[in-house]
Amino acid sequence: MTVHRFTLVGALAGALFATPLLAQTEIKIGYALAPAPDSHYGVGAQRWQEVVEAGTEGRYVFRHFPSSGLGGEREMVEGVQLGTVEAVIVSSGTLANFVPDTGVFDIPFLFRDLGHARRVLDGPIGQEMLAKFDDVGLKALAWGEQGFRHITNNRNQIGAPEDLAGLRLRTMENPIHLTAFQTLGAAPTPMAWPEVIGALQQGTIDGQENPLSVIVSVNLNDVQRYLTISGHVYSPAILLVSPMVWDAMSEEDREVFRQGAAEGVAAMRAFVDEVEASGVATLRERGMDVAELSAEDRAAFQEALAPAYEQYFATYGQDLIEAIIATE
Ligand code: PAF
Repeated sequence: MTVHRFTLVGALAGALFATPLLAQTEIKIGYALAPAPDSHYGVGAQRWQEVVEAGTEGRYVFRHFPSSGLGGEREMVEGVQLGTVEAVIVSSGTLANFVPDTGVFDIPFLFRDLGHARRVLDGPIGQEMLAKFDDVGLKALAWGEQGFRHITNNRNQIGAPEDLAGLRLRTMENPIHLTAFQTLGAAPTPMAWPEVIGALQQGTIDGQENPLSVIVSVNLNDVQRYLTISGHVYSPAILLVSPMVWDAMSEEDREVFRQGAAEGVAAMRAFVDEVEASGVATLRERGMDVAELSAEDRAAFQEALAPAYEQYFATYGQDLIEAIIATE
């Protein structure tokens, strides 16, 4: 009789261990643009998800909140700090409000081309910057990318700094960009992204600036007439995770998240490469009036920015700025 009872208990225990309950952690991931395949953020988030879900055998499951479904970028980053959002992909728009040193990457005409920016961000300067997020309750896994920013507006084509005079231009909530456009004589208004299309439709602002990846993805051609290929500043993005999730993870799972972030960045960059090559033609076909600044035009903008550069040197230090410029 006793033997029989032990056998029954053993069989039940065996059945329980044979079919363990799968503990799943949901990763709510927020970003401002369309889901895959229609934006660089969408494809980056999707690749990150695929690698993590496969590498952790479904113990971590991503749930996407695209198109600013979790609010503006500042709110999203605050959500990551609080642990109400597990992961985000955001631009550098509000980052300097969290880690002031990141503002150095927002200096106009700092990076020569995409390759230069990628080498700086993937190299020691970019990686040291990622580590600084640890001090403000954020885990930064990798630098992503949007491309170089260009100006769109409904008033006039921009060929010289004077053409910006008084232009009501939406900037990101970014003090470095704000200083630049004030110095150039525009009338910049910092604004969270979710308000921008409405403000352009209502005419409370004349223009905005964003990379081709964004202009094409959100059909800015519906609300903007002129596109100036100014490439006035490189626009990095960043992949952030909440420390609440990160601290609870095994080292193996962290490695899977890092790998997923790296592959997500590769997918974003491939998207950006494609849209940088095809975006101008796409936007002309959609009816935009497109003009490109020549090297001489760009030099005139740099010259007009001299007082702003003085401020940037004072804030970020000549050594760091020169080290970025000198990166091969
Ligand atoms: O302009 C911005 O705020 C950003 O570039 C955007 C469109 C939210 C993407 O991060």
